[in-house]
Parts: sequence; structure tokens; C-alpha cells
Amino acid sequence: MASLVQHRPRLDRLRDFVTGIGTLLDRTRDERSLLEEGSAALGRLVAHDDWLPEAYAAPNPDRYSQYLLHCDSRERFSVVSFVWGPGQATPIHDHRVWGLVGVLRGAELSERFARYPDGGLHAVGAIERLEAGEVEAVSPSVGDIHRVSNAFDDRVSISIHLYGSNIGAVERAIYDAAGTPKRFVSGYANAVLPNLWDRSGATA
Ligand SMILES: [Fe+2]
Repeated sequence: MASLVQHRPRLDRLRDFVTGIGTLLDRTRDERSLLEEGSAALGRLVAHDDWLPEAYAAPNPDRYSQYLLHCDSRERFSVVSFVWGPGQATPIHDHRVWGLVGVLRGAELSERFARYPDGGLHAVGAIERLEAGEVEAVSPSVGDIHRVSNAFDDRVSISIHLYGSNIGAVERAIYDAAGTPKRFVSGYANAVLPNLWDRSGATA
């Protein structure tokens, strides 16, 4: 008979990641260093798919979901899970802060855009496919406007994002095909957060 026992999520991995990013931000605010060292740390986090609780991996049939996993007490950074149902995609959007995207499960496609001097948008480069374990960066200095989609139309994909602010509260924009911006504050899909801070060993 198959076991119904679920393994406890390894929340210690997420706790170690957020404490490490806090320490990194204590040491530097240089964006290049943050993207480089943050990428390495996020790569280590998404190298294992055994820590994200199911509640933060649940797809919504109507649209992609962004769950807040942790926000720094000074809002210097936030960590979210981005859950794609089959075939789901974002509109074209920007971030206005530095960010890192690491794929935990499945794969995602990213199309990058840049602005023409007249304000219109044009696609930049080929569509990138990010596989599980891979990390990419966004920011106003390295390229900030993109459209992202689940690479699969028959299964869920999940990416873990680290941003240099409380991303759900950042005033930013989505764009239509003509490049016209529309104000966008994403918020979050969840009202409660995972408990990373029980170090007794009982939950992680
Ligand atoms: Fe994005």
C-alpha cells in the first residue's frame, strides 16, 4: 500500500537563503555584486525541489499566481513563488528594481523588450527558455521589460523570484502591444506566509 505520509518541506533551505540575502545586503548595495552573488544563492535554492510548501505551489486555473514567501523587515528584498498553470503567461511588464528569477519546477519562456525613443516597444533577442535550476536577472540597468510564460501547456511550472524591494507594493507598469504603459501594483495571492522561523526541527 502506498504511503500517504508527506515529507515535511525543507523550509530550512528557504530560511538559509533569506538570512544569506540579508547578510549580503548588509555588506553591499552594488547591483552587479547583488545580481552575481544573489544568482549563486538562488541557484543553490532552486537546485532542490523539496522545500516549497504545497500552499505556495498551487496553480489558479484563471491566472498565474504570485505568493509572497518572505519580505525583509526593512523591505530591502522579497522572495516570491510564481506559479504558472498550463499555458499561462504574464502581460508585458517591468519591475523597476533589481530581480532574479530561478526556475524550481518545469520551465518558462521569457521575451525581452526595450523602448524605442518614441516610447514604443521592440523585442530584444530571441525568446529565452529557462529550465529548472537556471537563474536570470532583470533590472532597469540589465533589461527590465519582459513577458514570461509557462513553457508547458500541459503542466504547472514554478519559479522563485528575489527582488530588491517589497515587489508586490512597487508601482510599476504593464504594457499593451503598442507599448502604452498602464499602472500596475501586483500585490500577492496569499494572506499568510510560511513559517521559516521554527528552528526546533519540528517543521523543517
Ligand atoms: Fe517579470
